[in-house]
Amino acid sequence: MPDETAISSVYAQIGDEGFKRLVGAFYRQVPGDDVLGPLYPADDLEGAEHRLCSFLIFRFGGPDRYLHERGHPQLRMRHAPFAVDQIARDRWMVLMNRALDEAQLPATATVIMRPFLEEVATFLINRGARPAIIS
Ligand code: HEM
Repeated sequence: MPDETAISSVYAQIGDEGFKRLVGAFYRQVPGDDVLGPLYPADDLEGAEHRLCSFLIFRFGGPDRYLHERGHPQLRMRHAPFAVDQIARDRWMVLMNRALDEAQLPATATVIMRPFLEEVATFLINRGARPAIIS
């Protein structure tokens, strides 16, 4: 996991605009995805896009609008209703890695974001076998 100083430097590098590009590129792939499509609310994808975007902005050192809108992130609790197994986790990263490539953010930012997202995605697995690092 990158250290906190690195993590909180990302917002200054890419701003709201960079996060919107990234999360937009991620959510464009969701409806057509056979694994993730059925998990997300088809009638509120825009809302889902906004929630992820606002969380990432907060977590990577930007304004804490997410906290005002949603309260404490409690990501494991918020993902409990969704079956996140290893397959869903890996697919989430495939879509996110494509989004990171498509958004063409500076390499100094993606080198911090990619491992952070990988690690949180693993932490959110809540069904089936869990990797040894969190068992
Ligand atoms: C491991 C694979 C993952 C799956 C299958 C998954 C799935 C979902 C689903 C179905 C939702 C509900 C959409 C909505 O209505 O907001 C959601 C919400 C959310 N996810 Fe994930 N997610 C994954 C990983 C992640 C990761 C890695 C992060 C953060 C780095 C994340 C952050 C969030 C946030 C912030 C919300 C909105 C929470 C709220 O305020 O209600 N998710 N996720």
